[in-house]
Amino acid sequence: MNKRIISAFGWSSTAAEVATGYDLSGKRAIVTGATSGLGIETARVLAGCGAQVVLAGRNISEAKPLVEEITAAGGKAYAVALDLADLRSVEAFAATEGGLPLHLLINNAGIMACPFGLTKQGFELQIGVNHLGHFHLTKALLPALKAANGSRVVSVSSSGHHWGAFDFDDPNFENVTYDPLVAYGRSKSANALFAVELDRRYNADGIRAFSLMPGGIMTNLGRSMTDDVRTKLGVDPVSAKNIRWKTIEQGSATTIWAALGRELDGTGGLYLEDVAEAAPNELGMHDGVKPWAIDPELAARLWDWSEAVIANSVNPA
Ligand SMILES: NC(=O)c1ccc[n+]([C@@H]2O[C@H](COP(=O)([O-])OP(=O)(O)OC[C@H]3O[C@@H](n4cnc5c(N)ncnc54)[C@H](OP(=O)(O)O)[C@@H]3O)[C@@H](O)[C@H]2O)c1
Repeated sequence: MNKRIISAFGWSSTAAEVATGYDLSGKRAIVTGATSGLGIETARVLAGCGAQVVLAGRNISEAKPLVEEITAAGGKAYAVALDLADLRSVEAFAATEGGLPLHLLINNAGIMACPFGLTKQGFELQIGVNHLGHFHLTKALLPALKAANGSRVVSVSSSGHHWGAFDFDDPNFENVTYDPLVAYGRSKSANALFAVELDRRYNADGIRAFSLMPGGIMTNLGRSMTDDVRTKLGVDPVSAKNIRWKTIEQGSATTIWAALGRELDGTGGLYLEDVAEAAPNELGMHDGVKPWAIDPELAARLWDWSEAVIANSVNPA
């Protein structure tokens, strides 16, 4: 059995600590969801290492304070609009940002356990935003990732993948009652599977892919959860006290390791947590990676499914 890849860091390490000693001068990075929570810290740390960072967000005015902060510190960043719930917005973003070599693509944006809804092209919102939007974006940016001659694509998944394997038979909840947590779980399983198949297809082109669980962090992620979902999750104000939360700086550490970690050179398709490769989880919650999130056959099937549904999708009238 292969030994798990570990680092000198752990549960409580911060993104800035993990990034110490890395020089990203002359490199470009895109961070999706850089207007809130983990995306802000991830972009800040990458810019602090010298990368030019593109802050991708739905509302670019929200990225203005971070652009100003990075610029004032002598770094390079600018914001570009990206709505992952609309494939046309994804294409417009890639058309403006895909022309130069891209060394790091951090697919961080996400929504969690929202009420049922559909993207512009009619996909269930969580699978649409968390997976299909990023899938379409990454594919459109492949020429730029190849041109970098050594690039990494990081998918921010979650231990929430334990709540649901991807369902090829009913991906949009047309035949079963919608469950917001199961839908999140499916989308986060898809994030991990995407890294497996992306890495398999493109590692010969110098593109390596990873997925990760950042930890439990108090961000805006719960903004669209109903009280019912909060209680089920244990993040209502009373039971939240029992959860071991990370700070945003700690919660961004595994993303930064996935993007930069030298220990990961020559590898790919791995699911990481707490700044190490995650252990397999066959049984209980909540650590580790479930088999359905790293299975190469499922990963290849998901890739084909994603291409097919995007090709067949239509714009609203
Ligand atoms: N926080 C945790 O405990 C935790 C645990 C496990 C995994 N994660 C994962 O970590 C990632 C970051 O989450 P976070 O905790 O930092 O949450 P957050 O504070 O809510 O940030 C999420 C980001 O995603 C963006 N986003 C949402 N929908 C979008 C869309 N349609 N198009 C473009 N951007 C969109 C948001 O933009 P707006 O501000 O415009 O909405 C925001 O910038 C997510 O993928 C999440 O699943 C978080």
